[in-house]
Amino acid sequence: MRKIGMGIMWRAWILLFAGVLCLCTGCSKSRMPEKKNSIRIGVSLYRGDDTFINNIRAELEKKAKEYEQESGIKVILDIQEAKGNQNTQNNQVERFISLGCDVLCINPVDRMAASAIIDKAMTAGIPVVFFNRQPVEEDMNRWDQLYYVGADAKESAVLQGSILVNLYRETPGALDFDGDGVVSYVLLEGETSHQDSLIRTEWSIQTLKDGGVPIEKIAGAIANWERSQASAIMEQWLDKYGDEMELVICNNDDMALGAIDALERVGGPKLNLVGIDATNPGLEAVQSGKMLGTVSSDKEKYAWAILQIAAAKARHQQINAEITLTDGKYYWCAQEIILKN
Ligand code: GAL
Repeated sequence: MRKIGMGIMWRAWILLFAGVLCLCTGCSKSRMPEKKNSIRIGVSLYRGDDTFINNIRAELEKKAKEYEQESGIKVILDIQEAKGNQNTQNNQVERFISLGCDVLCINPVDRMAASAIIDKAMTAGIPVVFFNRQPVEEDMNRWDQLYYVGADAKESAVLQGSILVNLYRETPGALDFDGDGVVSYVLLEGETSHQDSLIRTEWSIQTLKDGGVPIEKIAGAIANWERSQASAIMEQWLDKYGDEMELVICNNDDMALGAIDALERVGGPKLNLVGIDATNPGLEAVQSGKMLGTVSSDKEKYAWAILQIAAAKARHQQINAEITLTDGKYYWCAQEIILKN
């Protein structure tokens, strides 16, 4: 009897000791949700001088403040700019991980090279919310802790094309200035590798065709989303095709603004211009009548979605039920046409 009693006692001590050890080491971590009073979010932007991305950044900062007030959880947003260099961005990701970031929000420099970032994040067990520059599907499917927030490129383009189709249907002469039965256009495109450039170009033109607008392309060029590049290209076009051009289709507002800069510099002819983004200078150009119209993605919702997904992941919580995710990982931001009031 005595012998059995001692055995039970020893086993009880061993179990107690193992329990204490388990609590002291990480083994309790996975079972009990951590009570955090602050979260650290590492954000890397592909460039710091992109107008649209800067709009999103400003909204993200606002949303982080609002989240702090609502939840009482401090949000540390560490925002870095990768200056268009993928190696710089990869180093920023490593630094975020070593600083103990709970989640990463990445606007990839090269959307085809997201796998290096995914590797690092997976090894460290840190979820990633990509935005604006969409990694390829194969990469997005590598882990269930990868998310993407963006505006659907085809939708932006169809809306942009609709601005022109609607106008043509109402007043053909408002697009076909010389009344020759054809609208002659030039096209300014964003970066070649960006999903938005390829899809926006294709679907803007397709929408015009489907809408019955007779079009003829005079010239097209890549201006990498940039106002100054677009301005230089437009100046050459004005010199070459000044009398023929009727319409300037731009993959974003900044390039439309660059084309307007060139028109104002050389005192060019009256042209119709359309953009996408509804950045603040883009909206001003629409209101002043310099630009026919643009397409707005709801930037507030865009940033809110990034922040909500990131914060939920950082706190090991469910993602806000108001966020509808396609395939469990894609959030598509609502868009609308903006015309002069
Ligand atoms: C596009 C946007 C451009 C530029 C680009 C950067 O969605 O329309 O203006 O910001 O993203 O990736």
